[in-house]
Amino acid sequence: MLNPLTGNLTLTKPFVIAIDGPSASGKGVTSRRLAQMLGLLTVDTGAMYRTLAWHCLRMKVDVNDDKKVAALCRKWKTKLVAEEGQVRLLVDGYFPAKEIRTSEASAAVAHVAQVRAVRDWMKAKQRECIQFGSCVMEGRDIGSNIFPETDYKFFLDASPEVRKQRREREGVQEDVHARDKRDSSRAHSPLMPSLGAMIVDNSHHSVQETCDIMLEEINRRRKANRLAPLKPVA
Ligand code: DC
Repeated sequence: MLNPLTGNLTLTKPFVIAIDGPSASGKGVTSRRLAQMLGLLTVDTGAMYRTLAWHCLRMKVDVNDDKKVAALCRKWKTKLVAEEGQVRLLVDGYFPAKEIRTSEASAAVAHVAQVRAVRDWMKAKQRECIQFGSCVMEGRDIGSNIFPETDYKFFLDASPEVRKQRREREGVQEDVHARDKRDSSRAHSPLMPSLGAMIVDNSHHSVQETCDIMLEEINRRRKANRLAPLKPVA
């Protein structure tokens, strides 16, 4: 398989580093840094759910109507591509990077994400992502449900005060607490640390420190399986 970032031939089987955690726990920035360090792709699964929420809004489908959301998802025409170091879900050839971050999309997404048929659809799509190579995949149920077989599972967390401050610094007015509550209490794949996940509270760590802790743990687990350590390429 060709590494889409380096163009080199990769002989190892693609693997996934699973990063789960609540909103503003630093999953996005940590995944991107770790992937960059190791020359891997990133997959932001929250962006995939947000893209469906945006599509519902655009098609005037009520996000509270599970049946209509499921029906729209089933007939959705999408494509996965690897570009700019990320695996992205395109809709009609377009990646709605800005549109999925609006307050409307943020408010709609937790409703869409609790629909069973949507989660099944997303699981299949997210598992397809490794066709492009090894990935750092971030979300809420990656270690527990999407790639439970991976050895590299992390649950990032930070105190509620720190998470609130992070969102405010980004200029995002979001009820982080309400969304976490909905994500943690839903019936299908609720947010929780998966079995075998290392829990990393990064309230007082920089992104680099968090990545260093994770890489050390990945290599500890690789050593236990007699695998060569992963080495930073950047
Ligand atoms: O990480 P984020 O804020 O972009 O996620 C958007 C929403 O999607 C959030 O409500 C949680 C949900 N989500 C999920 O249920 N499962 C995932 N794997 C990723 C996100």
